[in-house]
Amino acid sequence: MNSSNTVSILGLGPMGHAMAAAYLDAGYGVTVWNRSAGKDEELLGRGARRAATAAEAVAASPVTVLSLIDVDAMYPSLDGADLTGRVLVNLSSDVPEKARAAAEWAAARGASYLTGGVTVNPSGVGKPDSQIFVSGSEEAYEAHRATLDVLGATDFQGSEPGLAQLHYQLGMTMFWTAFTGFQQAVAIARANGLTAADILPHARATAESLPGFFDWSGALIDADDHSGEDARLAMCAASVEHVLHTASAAGIDTGILAAHAALYRRGIEAGFGADGTTRLVDLLAEPA
Ligand SMILES: NC(=O)c1ccc[n+]([C@@H]2O[C@H](COP(=O)([O-])OP(=O)(O)OC[C@H]3O[C@@H](n4cnc5c(N)ncnc54)[C@H](OP(=O)(O)O)[C@@H]3O)[C@@H](O)[C@H]2O)c1
Repeated sequence: MNSSNTVSILGLGPMGHAMAAAYLDAGYGVTVWNRSAGKDEELLGRGARRAATAAEAVAASPVTVLSLIDVDAMYPSLDGADLTGRVLVNLSSDVPEKARAAAEWAAARGASYLTGGVTVNPSGVGKPDSQIFVSGSEEAYEAHRATLDVLGATDFQGSEPGLAQLHYQLGMTMFWTAFTGFQQAVAIARANGLTAADILPHARATAESLPGFFDWSGALIDADDHSGEDARLAMCAASVEHVLHTASAAGIDTGILAAHAALYRRGIEAGFGADGTTRLVDLLAEPA
């Protein structure tokens, strides 16, 4: 096996484990390391090689993929490792500033650094349409793109190392608020004697309507058009109050919905009632 078909994985949580498995499936020679013992047994049984230290794993392959809890976990793991000429691909989720600092840290030690955010759960790793944001060294990305694409469809965002994490966090902003919104709806449903299964078809329809709202409002926001012809902020604020009231009447936690309603009230108080909801972007542009 030549060295371009070898890869090392640091971190064998569910995500790193799925990555190592995807490389084994693709016929790569895989070296694995995890901080604590006991997470590599199945991978070893499939032909992976255990490294005693992260430094040994980095030395074993031209490309090392990191899947740790966060970027900070990289520093103690690679303490003392010779990174000269190595390519580090840190797919641990974190914030853009940490990604930039880590890229500088790696460059100071002679390594090429790519940072990335995986937008799928471990079961999506290794599937060709699974999106993985990547940014950082373009040279390293071009040289090792085939290796990275084993994990999914890498989406290179440019040489600024924070960009991949920025795009990842933008996605997470929408994902977490929407997913928590689903759980909030289930809590209201359950308080009214319904199950999650009862509302799933409606939840799915609501979720599927969102891309249309993104397209419509995104174009208006970029055009700075807040005319509110189709939907006035005042109408939307009334709807948001109805949601809050329905949760309150159900006797459940209203913290998230109260914060949501407060934002819309702020829009009304700022005099935007006759404008579109796109005005909210301006309100959100500064601290409340
Ligand atoms: N799981 C998902 O659905 C998913 C989806 C998208 C993105 N991600 C991202 O993928 C990354 C890994 O996810 P995961 O689910 O595999 O996470 P996880 O279960 O929390 O595993 C974390 C890994 O980081 C290691 N670790 C934690 N602190 C460390 C430290 N101080 N030094 C060295 N190693 C340390 C752990 O080692 P030990 O085993 O020794 O604790 C483990 O290997 C995360 O950044 C996560 O946000 C996960």
